[in-house]
Amino acid sequence: MNWDRIFELARRLQTVKVNKFTIFHWAVASYVFIFGFLKWGVPFISRQITGMPFPLPVPGTLMFFYVVLITVAFYLYITSSEDKVREFIAPIKGFLGGDYGIPVRNAVLVVIPILVGWQVYDIFVPKTSSPVSLRIQHPSSNFPKKMESLKNPYENPDDAAVDAFIEQAKANKVEFIQQVKPDVESWLGKNPGVHTLGFVPSEKMKAFLDALKAGNVGKDVARAALKEKNLFEGRALYAMNCRACHGDSVSGDGPMADGFKLRPINFTDNGTIETIVEGYTFWRVATGGRALPTEATPWDSAMPTWELNLTEEERWKILLAEYDLAQKTPRIPETHEVAGGKAGEKK
Ligand code: HEC
Repeated sequence: MNWDRIFELARRLQTVKVNKFTIFHWAVASYVFIFGFLKWGVPFISRQITGMPFPLPVPGTLMFFYVVLITVAFYLYITSSEDKVREFIAPIKGFLGGDYGIPVRNAVLVVIPILVGWQVYDIFVPKTSSPVSLRIQHPSSNFPKKMESLKNPYENPDDAAVDAFIEQAKANKVEFIQQVKPDVESWLGKNPGVHTLGFVPSEKMKAFLDALKAGNVGKDVARAALKEKNLFEGRALYAMNCRACHGDSVSGDGPMADGFKLRPINFTDNGTIETIVEGYTFWRVATGGRALPTEATPWDSAMPTWELNLTEEERWKILLAEYDLAQKTPRIPETHEVAGGKAGEKK
């Protein structure tokens, strides 16, 4: 290392007339100050004013406009007289002439083009971005065909289930799913002497209880009441398990929804659960995003796998509630034996 040269450089740097703060230095200092103020000062002040836990940054485009305006202002000011132009140029001329030392000058002259080149490269280098291809909303290549004709057993309870329900209701021994039991019990504690089913606030249930009291229960009234109970339980389960993503209004706007690139499905949309058969929805809920085939990409689904946490009964009841909340009906499965070939191919 050539110390003599380094000392010489330091000595020369010292002799540079720092005390002579020219227009050039003012311009650079002002740039740095204004940029720093916009970038860090404004967000800081905004935070003090609004008292909110996050700053309000100056948008990038606005920042760009400010910098352009400052440049124009300096240009106008400096070119307003010959003297100012000369004063502005003097340090640059001095620098190029080697006032600050030849090595410093050469280093700067190498570094600046490299920085500019790097910046340009960075702007133009192709980046990985999401493919534009549309996602297949209902990929079905690995959907087990045998599930296609599944029907929700809680939608239209069969006679045996209805009879059992009537018997239980007569004895006031109707059981709710375990998730809502604590609520039912606490409600019964506050309303002693009422029928357990009174917990379900619905007209159809009320009609059933009235018929029960009068001693002439029709099967249809009982079936409707049983469906109301199933729906009620389904709604409770939906609120506990699905609401966070799919939302109160089942339109895919739950409190967690914004966190996913592939948003939770909006069930009220005509293109979602209405266009698929119940068996498919049931399968989707059971297996979640994990079971989706590659045609469901480019974005991976955050939909959890529910067969591990919810029983079949719970999942069917949720689906009942889901379709009901969305005011949709599932697509009717097509029969496989259609004259001339196979039908029931889903897209
Ligand atoms: C962690 C967030 C999250 C939770 C919780 C969640 N889902 Fe999803 N769900 C999603 C996302 C994201 C999608 C969209 C991507 C996809 O199709 O898999 C989706 C899609 C679906 C679909 C597919 C609809 C269609 O038209 O193909 C159904 C059905 C569904 N969810 C039902 C449910 C049910 C029922 C529950 C509760 C048991 C639930 N989800 C809970 C995130 C969630």
